[in-house]
Amino acid sequence: MAAKNEPIGVIGVGWVGLVTAACFAELGHPVFARDIVAEKVDALRRGEATIHEPGLDELLARNAERLTFTTDLQEVLDAARLLFVCVDTPPTHSGDADLSRVSTVVEELGGESDHVLIMKSTVPAGTGAAIKRDHPGAYVSCPEFLKEGSAVEDFMHPDRVVVGADPGDEEAGSAVAGLYAPLGGELVQTDVTSAEMIKLGSNAFLAAKISFINEIANVCEEVGADVRDVARGVGLDDRIGPKFLQAGLGWGGSCFSKDVSALKQLAANSGYHFQLLNAVIEVNELQKRRVIKKLTNRVGSLAGRRVALLGLSFKPNTDDMRGATSLVLAARLEGEGAIVRAFDPVAMDRAAEEMPKVEMCDSALAALDGADAAVLVTEWPEFAELDWGDAAKRMARPLLVDGRNFLDAGALRGAGFEYEGIGREVEASEAVAD
Ligand SMILES: NC(=O)c1ccc[n+]([C@@H]2O[C@H](COP(=O)([O-])OP(=O)(O)OC[C@H]3O[C@@H](n4cnc5c(N)ncnc54)[C@H](O)[C@@H]3O)[C@@H](O)[C@H]2O)c1
Repeated sequence: MAAKNEPIGVIGVGWVGLVTAACFAELGHPVFARDIVAEKVDALRRGEATIHEPGLDELLARNAERLTFTTDLQEVLDAARLLFVCVDTPPTHSGDADLSRVSTVVEELGGESDHVLIMKSTVPAGTGAAIKRDHPGAYVSCPEFLKEGSAVEDFMHPDRVVVGADPGDEEAGSAVAGLYAPLGGELVQTDVTSAEMIKLGSNAFLAAKISFINEIANVCEEVGADVRDVARGVGLDDRIGPKFLQAGLGWGGSCFSKDVSALKQLAANSGYHFQLLNAVIEVNELQKRRVIKKLTNRVGSLAGRRVALLGLSFKPNTDDMRGATSLVLAARLEGEGAIVRAFDPVAMDRAAEEMPKVEMCDSALAALDGADAAVLVTEWPEFAELDWGDAAKRMARPLLVDGRNFLDAGALRGAGFEYEGIGREVEASEAVAD
């Protein structure tokens, strides 16, 4: 078992790598973390968190002395035997995972055998076996399941820890399992390929669950049912469970789309047509766009209309804009000729780079000022606290599509809003303008 003061190396200091580094430091390990982006490393050395994640700032401050950030891989190799690889694995144009950053790390190790390579990046099943052909040292697959927005909490209290090691690497697998032992969570020890499949299978299932409830929501709208009640009744079946049954605007983020696509391509490359995943992906794409129809049903053409987007990050409690539904919505609204204004509590700087035509506002009320319609895109808790009576007075037309079924429909209607959620009774709209 790895000792509490066993040094840890982390390669790639993004969402996963930074949380991994900070949490292992919190557990008492000296951590040596390397990234290739010098500005990121400089900011972290100054004690500035490079991402917004609840609890992370405190961990970084409390464990500053145990954390070394560097651009120099050799510094990490000299200090730590166990190397957690946390580099990004974005999709290629073909939908396969781009493993070039992972390959670079393996090349940089130069065929040495002293270090244990522990893969946290999400990679297609079979990647570990391929890496083992070039890396003579021990190799362990240890997929990450943290959720952005509660990443520190998830790391510290895992529901399971998956450790995949092939014959010959059992000792390395036990060392990795030992690092996680203080955290609890059920240990799942497998071979490398099975560990890789567990990660892909988990994300594909979660994505399928979201697309499933969104399709149920769309049927609810047709038949006059309320998807929130339906989801509650369905989710109380303990074979199904209540989580990931919240209908809305579909999933966003960097992981689900790329991992579902990577699994689909992996299956196809292996000669299997994974039909279900095609539908899961398509439903999600269409779900984001349904908002446009909800708006035009009420206001007619969106050309020249001012539409406010509340919330831009792909989910609350993060400033991550990767794969955010707001990106699709802003582009579609602009395509319809709308003037888009927006507010997000933490993601506006990142968002402004991605959606240059959208006017970023200082507050939710400022975004709603004079708007012909608003869409709640991300369920930031502070939107529930907004003075919606004031908001209704400020808007040219107090119309809100609640893309996350987050707000109190009765209270909003009481405040003078035309309110429409997802998968719920649609109140008769006022006459379409124009
Ligand atoms: N973000 C999540 O919620 C999450 C959850 C579970 C798993 N994952 C997986 O973890 C991996 C990392 O995801 P992320 O969101 O942290 O990505 P990210 O893009 O935020 O971070 C990756 C980091 O790796 C750095 N990097 C790239 N090549 C490098 C190299 N050769 N040496 C050192 N650093 C290098 C990049 O500069 C970047 O800072 C991905 O495979 C992802 O699928 C992500």
